[in-house]
Amino acid sequence: MGKKSSASRAIALLMVIAASGSAQAAVDVEAAKELARTNDCLKCHATDKDKKGPAMKKISDKYRGQPDAQEKVIKHFTSGPTVTLPDGLEIRHKIIDTRDPKELANIADWFLSH
Ligand code: HEC
Repeated sequence: MGKKSSASRAIALLMVIAASGSAQAAVDVEAAKELARTNDCLKCHATDKDKKGPAMKKISDKYRGQPDAQEKVIKHFTSGPTVTLPDGLEIRHKIIDTRDPKELANIADWFLSH
């Protein structure tokens, strides 16, 4: 592998970053899914259909255009508010088992990207 190919890969990467058109880091979907899976989030949340919890699409629609959306959803799954399940049962929402700000931002952005 010569210098040229790594340089052109670097250029390709820069183009991808430029094309994303925002200062925000792109969502690492695989990392977000893995975190959601190990925290059982996916038992209640799917991308486009409601389960026990609202679909990510619905959550994205609710927060679309709100600059503090990320902050609000992070608060939701780190503070354990009381939520009502479709069968009427009231429970404390699952609190995610990480406090890593990058992981929290990534999974929040993933929920909000649908
Ligand atoms: C037992 C089912 C259940 C699990 C597990 C669960 N949720 Fe939820 N979640 C809900 C319900 C129900 C709501 C709806 C709350 C409401 O609108 O009152 C909700 C709402 C949300 C919202 C939207 C909050 C808002 O302000 O509208 C987000 C974001 C969310 N959950 C993320 C997560 C994440 C991340 C996990 C995993 C750490 C998770 N949920 C695990 C049931 C669940």
